[in-house]
Amino acid sequence: MAKEIINDPSRTFMEYRFLPGETPRDCTPDKISLRTPLTKFTKESGMESAKIILNLPFMSAAMQSVTGSGLAIALAQNGGIGVHYCSQPVEDEARKVAEVKGAKAGFVKPKTLSPNDTVEDAFEKAVKEGYSIYPVIDENGVLLGSVNVNYLKNRMGDEKISDVMRKFIPKGLDEITSEMKANNATDEEIIKTIREYITFAKVGIDLEEANRIVEENNSKFIAIVGEDNKLHSLVFRKDIYKHISHPKELIDANKRYICAAAINTHDYKERVPALVKAGVDMIVVDSSDGYTEWQKEAVQFCKGEYPTIPVMGGNIITAEGFRYLADAGVDAVKVGMGGGSICITQEQKGTGRGQADVVEEVCAERDKYYEETGVYIPIISDGGHSFAKDMTMALAFGADAIMCGRMFVGCEESNAPFHPEDRKFKQYWGEGHSRAKAWRQQRYGQVSFDEGVDGFVPFVGKLKENVLDDITKKMISTMVTCGCKNLDELHKKARVKLISELSMREGKPHDIILPENMTYKARRWG
Ligand code: IMP
Repeated sequence: MAKEIINDPSRTFMEYRFLPGETPRDCTPDKISLRTPLTKFTKESGMESAKIILNLPFMSAAMQSVTGSGLAIALAQNGGIGVHYCSQPVEDEARKVAEVKGAKAGFVKPKTLSPNDTVEDAFEKAVKEGYSIYPVIDENGVLLGSVNVNYLKNRMGDEKISDVMRKFIPKGLDEITSEMKANNATDEEIIKTIREYITFAKVGIDLEEANRIVEENNSKFIAIVGEDNKLHSLVFRKDIYKHISHPKELIDANKRYICAAAINTHDYKERVPALVKAGVDMIVVDSSDGYTEWQKEAVQFCKGEYPTIPVMGGNIITAEGFRYLADAGVDAVKVGMGGGSICITQEQKGTGRGQADVVEEVCAERDKYYEETGVYIPIISDGGHSFAKDMTMALAFGADAIMCGRMFVGCEESNAPFHPEDRKFKQYWGEGHSRAKAWRQQRYGQVSFDEGVDGFVPFVGKLKENVLDDITKKMISTMVTCGCKNLDELHKKARVKLISELSMREGKPHDIILPENMTYKARRWG
């Protein structure tokens, strides 16, 4: 006989509804905060001491079809965090982390050209990389000039970049002008030089000052140079506006976007150092079952080698699993098994649990652990959140953030390719489907059955405007009804009730005929 047979049915968030709490006068949508800790903190130092605090409680799923640099950047710009998937070669994942870290509105490490490249080379690079401004450096990294490929259209393809670039002169404008005057340069020559002048500053300048110089000079960018005029970075004018238009952006102390990356329990000794070198902010151990000795060893390796980088463990679905990972030293715990929209684990293996059950049990254990040790470990609810109300419910049940695949995959910024014949849809496949497992099989020779499916979701457009704004508006509205100004209050004050199937039916339109269900003729009334 099994060690334990639990006869209470497992529950999902869809089966619950919020009961209103008293809404104080100052609990208006503009006063509601969705800030949430992603890494552990102590009772003594409080939530603000957590190493990573999200401004929106969302993480993207570490899946091939979901998270690439585009989504990770878009999420960080809006206060969430992207998690790069680990079913790819180490160097690819590390490169994508570096792309996110290098994309910050601030000191950008630019792609460069060599003076010996041709105009044709510059166009090829621009098409491939999507940039228009390229600094030109020599083999020692010394800045020689810059080109804007948009202004090269009338040039011959075989012209050398050194002949068409704006030349970098490491002197102030006054100095250049007086030197040129002393050398009897004509006014036209002086004006041409000034027009082509590359504004620059020395390494060490802070971002605010760099932004002020960009504004004051009305330049597209300024070059930041180090010793011997070696190029360090560029600060772009357009990024200043990007920064202003993303007040919730999630950035590190160097004003670079924050991003996370997943590891598996096979090659972590090789993968983690590469991710850390690329600047990753958090490691996520990616496993459908995190209650294993392999996971414990992977966590302990990370914490031993890189004690300052937070590690998220998971997935677990029981109080026992939570204790196991907490004792292994994780900074956060991800929970869920079998609830993902692409998941067939429950059908194939019979393992899993309703997500509401999971979050309820694990959060209760987390709270107990907090009382005992004074250490708060954030819980991330992963899989199965297809509507804003499910997400708010997960947060009310005690989760600190939500990991989503389905919710983000239809966005323009996701990694998902379009349907080959219909751009109204994007492709979405599970990490447990053979399409994603091909890489692992090739590398580790693991052959097994599918635990995920391969399908389509509607294309929805931009992440912020079409997904995040909608979800957060609904979440905030629910919180107002519950009288909760932040997620900590939601954890403590929310009252939720299990509903019957009949009340669920009552909660939908009933006893009327909706226009979409009428014939075209009948709809044309009046
Ligand atoms: P969704 O947000 O409901 O689409 O669920 C996404 C989550 O499903 C991921 O974050 C993973 O935890 C999980 N997942 C991803 N791929 C698979 C799979 O192939 N089988 C089962 N679960 C998966």
